[in-house]
Amino acid sequence: MTLEQEISKRKTFGIIAHPDAGKTTLTEKLLLFGGAIQTAGAVKSNKIDMNTRSDWMDIEKQRGISVATSVMGFDYKDLKINILDTPGHQDFAEDTYRTLTAVDSVIMVIDCVKGVEIQTEKLMEVCRMRNTPVLCFINKLDREGRDAFELLDEIEAKLGLKVRPLSWPIGMGKSLRGVYNIFEKNLNLYEPSKTKKVEDVIKITDINDPRLEEYISSSAAKTLREELELVDGVYDPLDPEKYLSGEVAPVFFGSAVNNFGVRELLDCFIQIAPTPKPRATEEREIAPQENKFSGFIFKIHANMDPRHRNRLAFVRVCSGKFERGNNYFHVRQDKKFRFSNATAFMAQQKETIDEAFPGDIVGLYDTGNLKIGDTLTEGEKGTFKGIPSFSPELFKEVINLDAMKSKQLEKGLLQLMDEGVAQLFTYEMGARKVVGTVGALQFEVLQYRLLNEYGAKVQFAPVNIYKACWISSGEQGQLDAFIKDKYRYISKDKEGKAVFMAESKAWLQMVQDNFPEVEFHFISEF
Ligand code: G4P
Repeated sequence: MTLEQEISKRKTFGIIAHPDAGKTTLTEKLLLFGGAIQTAGAVKSNKIDMNTRSDWMDIEKQRGISVATSVMGFDYKDLKINILDTPGHQDFAEDTYRTLTAVDSVIMVIDCVKGVEIQTEKLMEVCRMRNTPVLCFINKLDREGRDAFELLDEIEAKLGLKVRPLSWPIGMGKSLRGVYNIFEKNLNLYEPSKTKKVEDVIKITDINDPRLEEYISSSAAKTLREELELVDGVYDPLDPEKYLSGEVAPVFFGSAVNNFGVRELLDCFIQIAPTPKPRATEEREIAPQENKFSGFIFKIHANMDPRHRNRLAFVRVCSGKFERGNNYFHVRQDKKFRFSNATAFMAQQKETIDEAFPGDIVGLYDTGNLKIGDTLTEGEKGTFKGIPSFSPELFKEVINLDAMKSKQLEKGLLQLMDEGVAQLFTYEMGARKVVGTVGALQFEVLQYRLLNEYGAKVQFAPVNIYKACWISSGEQGQLDAFIKDKYRYISKDKEGKAVFMAESKAWLQMVQDNFPEVEFHFISEF
């Protein structure tokens, strides 16, 4: 198969949702369709039973929270589909943000009872940064949810995204009769089943077909016809280009747990979702069809096997062909490394692979050379852009409780930061170290891992910080003057970039007004 053919087979996407909306359930049903797993419940039970992918960290086992981002590949209708799973717990949102840099599109799951929730809004902001195409799945139709039009309005208002329903619910909750697939023009009648794998759909290409009355009752048929007319009146027909540019999200309705409405979503996804697209480095745009391999690291997992101190770096292949055993050029360190132990991800297993193509995710075993954001190539020097750090939400100062273990602490902190567990800001003044995270749980992860893996005992002390702002200015002199004036509040991030640690929103506003030539950024790439 040519490189071009390999690329056109691949669809790499992530599922995003507010916790509990049904992301895990939907993932499992997609894997069932792909034949990658045989029984419903497999994804969940594996999370608990197998001490593998989802349970890499001891803390996770203790808390029973899935903290890992993993990758699942499966074949469906001659396509190779890669799902990049994201942590369910919102404290690990930064992991999710980074995973979104490695996908070509997303499926967003929304609970029809709860509507658009806060975490979905945040994730959508990240999607918007790269104009990632979004398909929406409104889940839990078997519950008494909100009116479909109302939900669509909420998506448009809260997520700043135009929608186009491609399936339509016939009733909801107890009165759920089925969904009408606008995209394929057929009817899928609802019959609850947690184990069902395939469903019988009835071809009803003309919505005025009298058989509709027989299948769903005359009153339901009447309502459906009226609502579909309204849908066509309110929403423009789907323009695939607008979906691909992230402006319009096609919407499907269903119930993941009952495997209902999921096939409609998947069959549309494989038709319209993008295959791997060109990606920008600092120097130029690299097309996936280019013969030479390139890729970047978006995720690092540590200590999967507690007996070995190795880490697994997740590489998104961007161009060419990755081949196991080859030497690849590590742009940041300006030297070549040999990767003899490459892993691919198929459904529930990891397996050694010999080659991988754009859109694929490869796992590389690493002993500490790789960092999130690193680029690998066949010699070219540009670094891929678009893998920024985001300003954390919570900040605490690291207090070393054992002066004899300073070196171990230093090493542990740096390595854990490379993995993206949290962000470290080192103050210019007094070399104080402040750790920033998205959620409170990370401080416990850090404390636990520093002690267990590096023998370093730490405590975290509260600090008064509202946001970390990366700073820049068109005029270097102005930036230097600002840094001098605010010396006490300036820290360096892990790349050595200057960061202003703002104590409150109001104060940040005041500082911004006083220094109009300085720009304040909430992400590290600007
Ligand atoms: P998440 O990964 O987004 O956090 O959500 P997850 O799939 O774990 O689903 C959260 C809960 O919602 C689960 O219930 C799941 O069974 C349920 N759920 C998913 N899809 C549907 C649906 O279509 N209808 C209804 N009624 N429920 C749905 P749980 O009680 O937390 O777990 P479980 O014991 O059912 O597995």
